[in-house]
Amino acid sequence: MQEVILIIGSSGQIGTELVIELRKIYGNENVIASDIRQSCDEVMNSGPFENLDIMDEKLLRNIVAKYKVTQVYLLAALLSATAEQNIELGWELNMRSHSHVLDLAKDGLVKKIFWPSSIAVFGSTTPMENTPQYTVMEPSTVYGITKQAGERWNEYYFNKFGVDVRSIRYPGLIGWKAAPGGGTTDYAVDIFHKAITDGKYECFLAENIGLPMMYMPDAIRATIELMEAPAEQVKIRSSYNLAGVSFTPKTLSEEISKHIPNFKMRYQPDFRQEIASSWPSSIDDTHAQNDWGWKLKYTLEKMTLDMLRNLKEKYKKIA
Ligand code: NAD
Ligand code: SER
Repeated sequence: MQEVILIIGSSGQIGTELVIELRKIYGNENVIASDIRQSCDEVMNSGPFENLDIMDEKLLRNIVAKYKVTQVYLLAALLSATAEQNIELGWELNMRSHSHVLDLAKDGLVKKIFWPSSIAVFGSTTPMENTPQYTVMEPSTVYGITKQAGERWNEYYFNKFGVDVRSIRYPGLIGWKAAPGGGTTDYAVDIFHKAITDGKYECFLAENIGLPMMYMPDAIRATIELMEAPAEQVKIRSSYNLAGVSFTPKTLSEEISKHIPNFKMRYQPDFRQEIASSWPSSIDDTHAQNDWGWKLKYTLEKMTLDMLRNLKEKYKKIA
């Protein structure tokens, strides 16, 4: 049976890259991008795009019927820093969108759902090093609370209604194709741009705060591998830990300096430092490795090289 995939919130950091990869696998016409804002030319010109505000459940159902959608990837959300600035919208958008999409599967309208969680489900009472899959979870941000509730909602819908929902607790994601959307880990993307354009960067986190991160090609591959895994291999329905690579702003700055020797980094921590301090510095993803064969490809060194190479090309084309 031909899969038809709807991506909600497809114009953001993850969606932009996910649409492109899924269109390569499933065919351009079978991957419908949707958002409340337009995407880059590559997405807009290569296949269908729908203006969809995920709060509008009727429109969502019309689009699912129009294209005979079989799978939904829900990426629309407010991220950690933005949600702290607008807690009502953070709660409304993150919770309601999730129910709208889970109910599509509960009502038999689609077969499979991807919904991303985050390292933000953890809090300051969680063991910070090599954080296990099952552990204390007391998130302190509105974003983290919606992600934790969302994980419980996933498991509830799976157990109660048989909904085939799959999820990953993404680390902070780093990519060059699209800008990040307002998270605490965004410094690890901004730093590359500023290193190339200005030779210096003022970091909003302190130099020694370690956080788990992942290069976007690994994150996209993990997402698609989880979605394509046989259902019986997906033993965790709340959300899977994924480790990625852990480093501090100082370590990343030193790695970039190997390629841009005069690069200068200053530290001016703001409110995001408190959020980052409540998150783990490294993650244990043994369950993902054992259940569906997850294997990381990009080290800090490989990622830094690839980011700088691609961004330099991008800036050359703009100039
Ligand atoms: P992003 O902010 O870059 O993209 C979100 C997209 O959702 C935007 O294009 C935005 O226009 C769209 N959107 C906002 N409100 C909408 C609405 N009402 N209806 C439809 N679309 C709407 O976010 P992202 O980084 O691509 O993250 C996608 C998902 O992955 C989120 O659930 C996020 O929590 C999760 N995640 C991201 C990271 C990361 O580092 N990027 C890490 C962990 C989890
Ligand atoms: N990278 C995300 C953020 O910082 C974590 O989910 O909000």
